[in-house]
Amino acid sequence: MTHTTLPRTTRTTTPPAPRTTETRPSPAPSAATPDQGPDPLDIWPASTVPLPDEDLAVGGVPLTELAERFGTPAYVLDEDEVRRRCRTYLRAFPDADVYYAAKAFLCRAMAHWVAEEGLGLDVCSAGELELAVTTGFPPERIVLHGNAKSPADLQAALRLGVGRIVIDSTSEIARIAAAVPAGSRQKVLIRVVPGIAAGGHAKIRTGTDDQKFGLSLADGSAQHAITRVLGQPRLELVGLHCHLGSQITAVKPYLSAVRRLVGLLARVHEQHGITLPELDLGGGHGVAYRPGEPALDITGLAGKIRAELAGGCAAAGLPVPRLAVEPGRAIAGPSGVVLYRVLSVKRTGVHTFVAVDGGMSDNPRPALYGVRYAPRLVGRHSTVATEPVTVVGRHCEAGDILASDVQLPGDIRPGDLIAVPVAGAYHLSMASGYNLVGRPPVVAVTSGHARLLVRRESLADIQERDIGL
Ligand SMILES: Cc1ncc(COP(=O)(O)O)c(C=O)c1O
Repeated sequence: MTHTTLPRTTRTTTPPAPRTTETRPSPAPSAATPDQGPDPLDIWPASTVPLPDEDLAVGGVPLTELAERFGTPAYVLDEDEVRRRCRTYLRAFPDADVYYAAKAFLCRAMAHWVAEEGLGLDVCSAGELELAVTTGFPPERIVLHGNAKSPADLQAALRLGVGRIVIDSTSEIARIAAAVPAGSRQKVLIRVVPGIAAGGHAKIRTGTDDQKFGLSLADGSAQHAITRVLGQPRLELVGLHCHLGSQITAVKPYLSAVRRLVGLLARVHEQHGITLPELDLGGGHGVAYRPGEPALDITGLAGKIRAELAGGCAAAGLPVPRLAVEPGRAIAGPSGVVLYRVLSVKRTGVHTFVAVDGGMSDNPRPALYGVRYAPRLVGRHSTVATEPVTVVGRHCEAGDILASDVQLPGDIRPGDLIAVPVAGAYHLSMASGYNLVGRPPVVAVTSGHARLLVRRESLADIQERDIGL
C-alpha cells in the first residue's frame, strides 16, 4: 500500500470543547424546539462550538483562523464528523456492505478515512478508481458504476481488480465480458430501474423509467439483461442494484424498491433456478441543508429495510440476500463547511446582493437544482438587525446565486467572512474552471489541528495545461 502522509500542522489557539460530539445522534432529523425554533448549529458538524465575536470553531479550530491561514474560498472538512457518520452507517447496517459514494467528494485522505472505518467505495470513473487504489484502498471493496463506462474505465477496473461492476445497459454486457481476461470471472450486478419517483429534484431522480440510468423493470429490459449476463461465462451475476435518486428524506420509496426487487429476485429464481446473493439499494439519503429541514434517519431506515426484506424473502421462499448501501451526501455533506469573503454589497432598493469570492464554479448546486443554504456571518459581532439578502458569486452569470433570500446582518460589508454549512458533498466534486478563478483548497480539521488536504488551484496550474499557441 502506498500511503501519502501529509504533514499535520499545529494549531495556535486552545481548542474549544466540542458541543455534544458523543451524544448527538446523526444523521438524524433536526430537532425543533417550539419556543426558539430549530437550533441554528444543528446542521453543522457536531464539533462546532460558538466562540466570541460570532466566530465558530469546527474540529477545535476557529473558522476565522482557517480563513486567515488558508485564504478564501476554502473548504473545511471535519475528519471526526466523516468518521462518525461512517460508523453510524456501520452500526445501522451491521450485516451489510456500506460503500461510500466517491462522487460526493473524494481526495486521498477521504479514501483513507473511509477505508480505515471499514467501508467500501462506489466509484464511477477511472479517475476516482485510480486515486483510491493508488492511495491504498482495497480494490475488492470497490464497486464501479457508470451509465457510459469508457474503455479506460473498464480497463482500469479489470486491471486493478474491482470487486464489482454494476451493469447499467444491455449494450455493455458483451463489451465487459470481452474485456475480462480468459480464465477469470468478474462479479457484476444489474442496475434495475424500479419505476419509483423519489429525490429532492427532478434532475436527481433516477428510479423512474425513461431516463439515462439503468434497466427498466416495467419494460422487461432488466429481465432481458439478466438472461444475457447469465449467458456470459466470464461474468458472475451476484445481484441486483438500484439507486432511486438523491436527497430522499422518506423511508417509503426504499421499501417499495425492496418489494419490487425481491419480486425480481423471485422471478430470476423461477426462470433460471438461481438465487442471487446480493441486493444493493444505492444511496440518496437526504440531509438538512437549513435548520429545521428533515434528514433521513439512517437507523430507522435500516431497521425498516431489514424488516421489509426479511418479510418479502420469507413470503417468496428466498434466502435474504446480503444488503449493500451507497451513501455519499449523508457522509460528506454535513462534514464540510465552505468559507467565503464578502467582496461587495449592492443595494438595488429591491434586493441586497452580497457578492463573495466564490460562486457557481465551486458550488453549482443552487443553479442546477435550486438548493437552498443557510450562510452565516462569522468573526464579527453585529448589533444591527438581520435583513433578507441574496448571496451571489463572482462569476459572469446572473444566475450565479449561492443563497437567495437569507437573513444576514443589515451592516454586512466587504471583508466580512461568511461560512456555509453542509458544503462537503457535490460542491468541490462538481466544481468547474469557469472564469479561470481556480478551485478552492480543502482543509481537514480534527482535535484542534488543521491540515491542507487539497491545495488551491493556482493560475500556474491553469496555465500549465494550456500548451498551445
Ligand atoms: C449509483 C449511485 N450510488 C450512490 C449515489 C450517492 O448518492 P447520495 O450522495 O445522494 O447518497 C449516487 C449518486 O448519484 C449514485 O448514482
